[in-house]
Amino acid sequence: MTLLQDLESRLATALATALAPTLGEPASAAVTAAADLRFGDYQTNAAMVLAKQHKTNPRALAQRIIDHLHLDGLATADIAGPGFINFHILPAAYASRATTLIGDEKLGVPATGEGKTVVVDFSAPNVAKPMHVGHIRSTIIGDSLCRIARFLGFTVIADNHIGDWGTQFGMILHGWKTLLDPAALEADPIPELLRIYRDVNSATKADPAVLETCKNELVKLQAGDPQNLAIWRQCIDVSKRGLRKIYDTLDVKFDHWLGESHYNDRLAGLVDEFLTKGIARESNGAVCVFSDGIKKPADDPFMVHKEEGWTDNPAIIRKADGGFLYATTDLATIQFRIDEWKADQIWYVVGVPQQLHFRQLFDAAARWGKTGNFQHVAFGSILGEDRKLMKTRSGDNVQLADVLTEAVERAANIIAAKNPDLQGEEAAEIARIVGIGAVKFAELSQNRLTDYVFAWDRMLALQGDTAPYLQYSTVRIRSIFRKLDAPFDASTAIITLTEPEEIHLARLHARFGELLPLIVEDFRPNLLANYLLELARAFHSFFEACPVLKSAAAVRASRLALCELSARILTTGLGLLGIKCPERM
Ligand code: ARG
Repeated sequence: MTLLQDLESRLATALATALAPTLGEPASAAVTAAADLRFGDYQTNAAMVLAKQHKTNPRALAQRIIDHLHLDGLATADIAGPGFINFHILPAAYASRATTLIGDEKLGVPATGEGKTVVVDFSAPNVAKPMHVGHIRSTIIGDSLCRIARFLGFTVIADNHIGDWGTQFGMILHGWKTLLDPAALEADPIPELLRIYRDVNSATKADPAVLETCKNELVKLQAGDPQNLAIWRQCIDVSKRGLRKIYDTLDVKFDHWLGESHYNDRLAGLVDEFLTKGIARESNGAVCVFSDGIKKPADDPFMVHKEEGWTDNPAIIRKADGGFLYATTDLATIQFRIDEWKADQIWYVVGVPQQLHFRQLFDAAARWGKTGNFQHVAFGSILGEDRKLMKTRSGDNVQLADVLTEAVERAANIIAAKNPDLQGEEAAEIARIVGIGAVKFAELSQNRLTDYVFAWDRMLALQGDTAPYLQYSTVRIRSIFRKLDAPFDASTAIITLTEPEEIHLARLHARFGELLPLIVEDFRPNLLANYLLELARAFHSFFEACPVLKSAAAVRASRLALCELSARILTTGLGLLGIKCPERM
């Protein structure tokens, strides 16, 4: 067990053991990776925190702690500033950690998610409306979170909660009956549905009678009219077919596609239950959830501050005309996920504009007795290079499928220029891996909450903070192994670290398993993306400073083992971001 424990946990254990004799009572304290390597590899502010509690001098306490620390061959410790304790890991400890990682399929990543079931609700486009670049963020971030959570041992259920029961079907039904081109629908369904949706939408603006007709079509659908239901079903089927193509291109998979309509039967009962339990009440004919008056208004999602002060901001769960809403469906969905799937956690990967919806949803669910760790994993917008919301030249929303096609085309051009030997299907496959990888990495290397600028040249650059740079790094490492006469077995290598570049590389290897659990604490795949860039840069510095193939046998084996570990962590890490690595490029 100790061998498999990461360095951070070993330091934390040693620290906790030293605190008891120092303070005369058990205490625990956190150890974190140092932000600045000049001050050591890890640090703790335990002495400062505890000195305050015990009203004693922090530096003196830090010294007493250090006197009791048994760091046996692991690290040295010293005091800095007002009482920080800095730990410097010994090269031998990094070497033995690297050896452990080579023998560990999980590369030191702990199973922190074991025994927990999480539903990841992501992508969720609205059927018969195009999936635009906004959905790209949800799809890419959500998929990466699923992969990371699975790697951490969570039971992950990826659910595509598609919007398959919205008001858009009024227009689609009318358009289907009057404007549909069946051949176009057969050839490529999503653009054809989009066309009829757009045409009807503009017709409703010109002529109120058309809007009336659409509303009637919707009412008929909701009342179960067989013809409208049949069209609706066909519409869902063809849309799903179109979506699946996009998900295949992106290599994104779902365990379920339980869209909004899946919950239709539960909505009436749910509203009745909310009324009898007093969670909701009638207001002007509608049924609404109001504040329960327990929280401070500033923390209460059912209150809003207006000029005249704090006023009610209810969530409607049944309209006066009897119709149900997005909030009603989402409440039913929570119940289903807890009852049927035994979900402990639900992560909703949805843009910032829906923040209020989710605050109200989680609050109402808790009052209904549905508890769990529910998280709105929000994200900002994608901007064009003009820093405005990304649009096509004609002013339309940019469509995801078009973005992906263009990414692959651009990657193909870059690869053809760089390596003209690559031809045919192999070149095409590499272009797909590089182009899609570039789009995903551009997304995942950003803090999800900031708006980011979609810039082709920047995301496809071979030198830069990009997927192609990382992919190229793995290709370069592979090519080292191709030059060997005999296969190399890293598990038999004895790792010795002498040069600073080697030590730094091994330091980063050790960080991988310590970093991944942090990512699902606040849903920041960008931590992993940036770590991988740092690792690749460390690898290149190592490779420049430390001869590998030309070294004597023992050094060569040690360095080859570091190469192999670097490649495995890079490939695994990219895989957790949903990015593949080509054999050559
Ligand atoms: N269909 C919604 C949209 O495109 C997103 C749904 C997110 N998931 C949820 N359970 N509300 O805006």
